[in-house]
Amino acid sequence: MKLLEWYRQNRERTAAIFGLVDDDVFYDRPIPLRHPMAFYEGHIPNFSFLTLNARALGEPSIDASLERLFERGIDPATADDARRHERSDWPAREEVARFAALCDERVYQALAHSSIEDPEVPRLIRGQAVYTILEHEQMHQETLLYIVHQVDYARKRFIAAHHEDHLLGASELRSIAAGKATLGADRDEVAFGWDNEFEREAIDVPAFGMTTYPVTNGDWLRFVEAGGPVPFFWIERDGEWRLHAAFEELPLPLSWPVYVSHAEAEAYAAWAKMRLPTEAEYHRAAFGTPEGDERPYPWGTERPAVAHGNFGFARYDPEPVDAHPAGASAWGIYDLTGNGWEWTSTPFGPLRGFEPMVSYPQYSADFFDGKHYVMKGASPVTARELIRRSLRNWFYRDYPYMYAKFHCVAA
Ligand code: AVJ
Ligand code: FE
Repeated sequence: MKLLEWYRQNRERTAAIFGLVDDDVFYDRPIPLRHPMAFYEGHIPNFSFLTLNARALGEPSIDASLERLFERGIDPATADDARRHERSDWPAREEVARFAALCDERVYQALAHSSIEDPEVPRLIRGQAVYTILEHEQMHQETLLYIVHQVDYARKRFIAAHHEDHLLGASELRSIAAGKATLGADRDEVAFGWDNEFEREAIDVPAFGMTTYPVTNGDWLRFVEAGGPVPFFWIERDGEWRLHAAFEELPLPLSWPVYVSHAEAEAYAAWAKMRLPTEAEYHRAAFGTPEGDERPYPWGTERPAVAHGNFGFARYDPEPVDAHPAGASAWGIYDLTGNGWEWTSTPFGPLRGFEPMVSYPQYSADFFDGKHYVMKGASPVTARELIRRSLRNWFYRDYPYMYAKFHCVAA
C-alpha cells in the first residue's frame, strides 16, 4: 500500500471510531487511567506531525503549546497516580479539530512531496518516521476502541454483529519439542520494527506442553466457582453470568476466550497447576515446527487473512476459540495470533542490542521497569499491518481493560 493511502485510511478509521460515541463523551475519561478521548483526537495527528514534519524533516512548528499538550499519553500505575494527570482545561472540540486538520495537512504534504526516506538522516533511514506514525495511529485505534468499550451503551452507536457460541472439543496438552526460538528481527528482515524488536536473539527452549485453546469463559467459570476472581468484562445479573461485550450485553459465551489481566491469568494457571508461557515458549508454540524451522506466522507464510484469525477490525468482540483451524500453529495450537493478545510470563525488557529509536526514544525504554509484561499476537481490533512475528506489546500486570487472553503451559 502507498504510504499516503495508508495514512488516509488510518485517519478515516480514527474518525469513524470518534463517530461511535455521543459528543458529550469527548471530555470524559471512560478509563480513569487514560486521558479523555479529547486527548487522542489531538495526540494522534500531533504525534504524526511532530515525528515526521517537525523532527524528521525539520519543518517549523504549528502551535508550540498544543504540540506540548498533545505530545504524550499517560500510563499511571494506580488511580491515585492518574489523578496527578487530571486537568479541566482541555481545549474546545473545534479548536482540537482545527489543530488536528493543520497537522494532517502538513503530514499529507510531506507524504506527497518530501523525501521521507534518506539513508543520511537517522529518522528517515528506511522511512522510520513514516512507519512510526502509521503504526502509532493504528495502535491508538485499539486504545480508542477499548476506551469506547467502557462508554455506556446508551451513549454510543450500536454495531450489530453475529455472535457464535458452541460446545468445544477438549483442550488437550500439545507437546512442543525442544528447539530454537528466534525473538526479535534483523534490521533488514522487516520493513519496519519498533526499537524493542531488535536485534534478533535465538533462545534454546526445552520441550514443554501447551493447551490447544486459550482459556475460555467456560473454563474460567469453574475457577470462579472455586473462589477465583470475576473477570472485569463479566456481569452477574439475576444469578446469570453475562458478558459486557463491545456494543451489547450477551449471555456469557462459554466458547470465547476469557479476557483477563496478567495477574488473573497467573492466578488461574496456578490454580490449574499450570503456568503462563514465557515469551520464548510463545514463539516456539506459535512459529516453531516439528521439522525444526521457524515460520513468520502461526499458520505459515501467507499474509494474515480473515481465515487465519480474529484480527484486523473484522469484528469488535471475540469468537469461539476453535473458529480458525486455518490459523492453528504447526503443533495444532489455536488462536496464538488473534481473538485477544496472549499474555506471557516475561517482564517487558530489551532484547540484546537494544537501542532507543531516534524517532521515539522513550517508546519502549520508559517501560523497562519490571512491572510490565510482554503480550504477543493480536486482538480483534489490532490492525493487520501490526501482525508480525517480532512485534511485542506490554501492559501492567493488573491492567484490566485490554483484550488479552492466555494459553496455559504444563508446569
Ligand atoms: C505499545 C500499546 C503499550 O498504548 O501505551 C502509543 C503504544 N505508545 N503511543 C501504548 C503507544 C505511545 C503503547 N503500547
Ligand atoms: Fe501515542
